[in-house]
Amino acid sequence: MALWGGRFSEAADTRFKQYNDSLRFDYRLAVQDIVGSIGWSKALVTVGVLTQEEQTALEIALNTLKYEVEADPEQILTSDAEDIHSWVEGKLIERVGDLGKKLHTGRSRNDQVATDLKLWCKAQGEVLLASVHGLQAKLVETARQFETTVLPGYTHLQRAQPVTFSHWALAYFEMLDRDYSRLQDALKRLNTSPLGSGALAGTAYPIDREKLALDLGFERATRNSLDSVSDRDHVVELMSIASLSMVHISRFAEDLIFYASGEAGFVELSDKVTSGSSLMPQKKNPDALELIRGKTGRVVGSLTGMLLTLKALPLAYNKDMQEDKEGLFDALDTWHDSLDMAQLVLEGLKVNEPVTKKAAMGGYSNATELADYLVAKGIPFREAHHIVGEAVVYAIKQSKPLEDLAVSEFQQFSDVISDDVYPILSLESTLEKRQALGGVSPAQISYAINQAETYLKNRS
Ligand code: ARG
Repeated sequence: MALWGGRFSEAADTRFKQYNDSLRFDYRLAVQDIVGSIGWSKALVTVGVLTQEEQTALEIALNTLKYEVEADPEQILTSDAEDIHSWVEGKLIERVGDLGKKLHTGRSRNDQVATDLKLWCKAQGEVLLASVHGLQAKLVETARQFETTVLPGYTHLQRAQPVTFSHWALAYFEMLDRDYSRLQDALKRLNTSPLGSGALAGTAYPIDREKLALDLGFERATRNSLDSVSDRDHVVELMSIASLSMVHISRFAEDLIFYASGEAGFVELSDKVTSGSSLMPQKKNPDALELIRGKTGRVVGSLTGMLLTLKALPLAYNKDMQEDKEGLFDALDTWHDSLDMAQLVLEGLKVNEPVTKKAAMGGYSNATELADYLVAKGIPFREAHHIVGEAVVYAIKQSKPLEDLAVSEFQQFSDVISDDVYPILSLESTLEKRQALGGVSPAQISYAINQAETYLKNRS
């Protein structure tokens, strides 16, 4: 039975019903709808719509229903109810009879769905905070494991300066930390209860909405009924945080795909997160990482879709807004699973240190060291840069790294270069020099790992 039958004399076309119904996806709000309904039933006692005995009977029936849907949420899908709100109300009436018909007094599905969705976002937000935290913890563990493992650092995908694998892992730790704080921030902002806003103009019953908000676990009640039922900012915010975080982990994925390529050979991915080719027996494909990269597109797509749905939508509720859920659920599920997958990839990761070391030493990535050496000997940096450029061209022609040039060869470019240049050109010295905060010197790396560990420990 539809909730709005009285005004109609003809049944809805089945094709319209299919198009209009949202139960197949909003069944995920069942628990929140029940919790919101219990809160509302308590509020109805305070305004004399329900007696305490009636409320108790409703609460018992609602709680029984809650346990049932928690045990088997998919059972809801066998119903042909329009949406989760009709389903819960229908079930209640089935169980407690006419009493169930009183529950919707003073409430609209508009404030109801807004409340359900916020309750769901609050719960899902906590799950996602834990997932981001989990990946951050794994990144710090990885940094500890490969604390001193040298890795070539790139700009423009050209070898630039040596870094360490730990430094690379901690770069993603930082990005995820901003994602974490953005999520916390969004959760604070969405922590307001729309219930009691009615269809759009507020409820006609003198409900204490602040108390109701606190009962439901919100920080406070929303302030404007029109805004309360029309606002989907939190949906957009969560999708946008998910999008940005997916962009972060897609860069992580891309780095590792490249590191695992035959061309680089820096890392080996575990069999647990790779697949073979049906034709080429030698292949081990980085599917988990490619999917993280690929799924980023659909998360960003959901965000774009939601923004366009809301653009120029008149106040207050419009059915367009029903389109908020599928995109949100999918974006947050995808983000959650991708964070998990990124963690799994790190679990079995092997780094091929001889290869990373050789690569870090190649590509003239110590050219900046030579320039700094010349600066130390009194040559202005711009000039030093030019001299080193010429030396690099020469070395490339000789097919030698800089450190294999003889002093006499160096002196063609600058006569201040002597024997003391060789230690400066070493990998160890290149790293050691970068002592300033956030750099790759062993002391800085060790400090950064310790800091990150303490920080995570204090958070959890
Ligand atoms: N299924 C609807 C949604 O998700 C619930 C709200 C319906 N409100 C209405 N006025 N038809 O948005």
